[in-house]
Amino acid sequence: MTLSPAELLPLLMRRKREGLPITVLTAWDAPSARWAEAAGVDLVLVGDSLGMVALGHATTLPVTLDAMVHHAMAVQRSLRHTPLVVDLPFLSYQCGSDSAMAAAGRLLQQTGCHGVKLEGAEAETLVVVDRLVRHGIPVMGHLGLTPQSVRQLGYRRQATDPVAQERLRRQARQLQDAGCFSLVLEHVPEGLAGDLRRQLDLPVIGIGAGDDCDGQVRVTADLLGLTPRQPPFAPALLPGEQLFSDTLRGWVDQVRTPLAAAATTPADPEAQRC
Ligand code: KIV
Repeated sequence: MTLSPAELLPLLMRRKREGLPITVLTAWDAPSARWAEAAGVDLVLVGDSLGMVALGHATTLPVTLDAMVHHAMAVQRSLRHTPLVVDLPFLSYQCGSDSAMAAAGRLLQQTGCHGVKLEGAEAETLVVVDRLVRHGIPVMGHLGLTPQSVRQLGYRRQATDPVAQERLRRQARQLQDAGCFSLVLEHVPEGLAGDLRRQLDLPVIGIGAGDDCDGQVRVTADLLGLTPRQPPFAPALLPGEQLFSDTLRGWVDQVRTPLAAAATTPADPEAQRC
């Protein structure tokens, strides 16, 4: 069963109405997309976290639109029925709504995704959201810890004082009014996420925002223990890095062992005479 692009918003809204938690996992290539779909998630996200997870960068800042397209196409090839949302990377939507429209349109055209995600709610960003939505591109918002602002915010928990909380509440409402179909809240206090879940019509999907959300999103590599930097709010469910490297070391040892044994065994003088 393939989800028609227009069904994404109704699907998530229905989940929120029925109180059924929404599950979202990231994918960065064809195998990770297969794992996410086999797990039965509601939505797959190609996050720009692929910069750290798959490309060896320290932050999401170097991730380009070309890289997002390349990886999202690989992810899409594995998905049979799960809707896909792709991150707009740094600089693809901050330089004006024309270039944002072109970037989001390219993601839709070339990757077959159902929508895009962007970070923040600055005045210019709200203009972009409004334009994308009016031109038929579903947009997911992202507030709280926004990794594209790491140089300013670090990876600290956000909205920890009343002024910052009020600002975040206002921005969440503005994103909803601009037409976002859902909102990711990252690394913010649980009470704030819960309030927003109740106040907003759009589904609030948390990561490091407590359980009182309409759904949860996780970076798949974090859950599998395959990430170079484990966030405090997403503990690994298995020691993936260790398991993988131990397994591969076992293979290397297995291949080397007979050769090493032969190399150290003294030649048999009887065999030499034959
Ligand atoms: O890039 C990403 O993987 C994300 C998730 C943390 C929501 O934005």
